[in-house]
Amino acid sequence: MKKFIKNAALLWAFLAVTTMSIAQSNYGKTVFIPTKTLNNGVKMPALGFGTLELNDSVGINSVAKAISLGYRLFDTATIYGNEEAVGKGIKKSGIDRKKLFISTKLWVSDMGYENTKKAFERSLKKLGVDYLDMYLIHRPHGDVQGSWKAMEELYKEGKIRAIGVSNFDSVQLADLMAKAEIKPAVNQIELNPFFQQPKMQRMIEKFGVQVEGWSPFAQGRNGLFTNKVLVEIGKKYNKTAAQVTLRWLIQRGIIVIPRTSNPAYMKENLNVFDFKLNKSDMQKIAALDKKTSQFPEWN
Ligand SMILES: NC(=O)c1ccc[n+]([C@@H]2O[C@H](COP(=O)([O-])OP(=O)(O)OC[C@H]3O[C@@H](n4cnc5c(N)ncnc54)[C@H](OP(=O)(O)O)[C@@H]3O)[C@@H](O)[C@H]2O)c1
Repeated sequence: MKKFIKNAALLWAFLAVTTMSIAQSNYGKTVFIPTKTLNNGVKMPALGFGTLELNDSVGINSVAKAISLGYRLFDTATIYGNEEAVGKGIKKSGIDRKKLFISTKLWVSDMGYENTKKAFERSLKKLGVDYLDMYLIHRPHGDVQGSWKAMEELYKEGKIRAIGVSNFDSVQLADLMAKAEIKPAVNQIELNPFFQQPKMQRMIEKFGVQVEGWSPFAQGRNGLFTNKVLVEIGKKYNKTAAQVTLRWLIQRGIIVIPRTSNPAYMKENLNVFDFKLNKSDMQKIAALDKKTSQFPEWN
């Protein structure tokens, strides 16, 4: 009888552990995304999910799907008009909000001390959260100092875990660094194989600021997904041009935020931590640099 009870207990323990690990992998916990430590000690995932153009139901479903697959960093902006959809996607996923890194941006028309405070509250409400992991000044226009002062206060009140900027060149960043009480943690700039900005990266990093790259695929412009060099390199590792591109940025120490509404691409873009590009691969990709923004219409 004693032996039977012991065996039954062992069987129960085995089943419990097995069920738990299956449930974990279904929830995407088996995906390993490394983190970067920002200059204030906050940890940020090295790879996240971009949300530009993912509006309404597409936005809601894409965000919920991405969370189920293992994405934890979400990049949105007031000007994308989808903070509400991102918030609904988060709710739909059922995940504990504290497990996410939610980042949004202050738009040009909201610059200045008072406007920034109001815009921040609007973003929180739309996202359905009571704090942000990161808040960025979207573009270096208007009253940067006033906005920064407001963001510093919100940071000190514990309403934002990290504050930063986007599209700042080295002069604009240096100017802000000189006047700021709290240094920017991140500068989000355009970075892809056709616009590599190595000098800009070095200058930003010299200030102790983490570089985050937007439009890693240049939205597919210039035939990025069929580029011969990227495809050939990918063949060696059984990876696509998209995966090679993300890996190349990650190896440069850059945080990446690819965007897609296609679940197959979502999985593909996550699957970049099991191979390493060698020096010659890195050099071949460096030679693709056209040294010019792929989005001249935005400048
Ligand atoms: N701070 C700024 O000023 C700024 C500016 C631009 C962007 N951003 C941020 O950066 C994020 C990423 O940039 P982005 O949205 O401009 O473009 P992107 O990520 O460079 O490219 C998105 C395009 O790539 C396609 N794609 C994604 N994964 C793929 C894969 N594995 N294979 C083939 N195609 C793939 C998507 O296809 P589907 O359409 O089929 O999904 C979509 O058309 C944005 O979403 C936004 O969060 C910031």
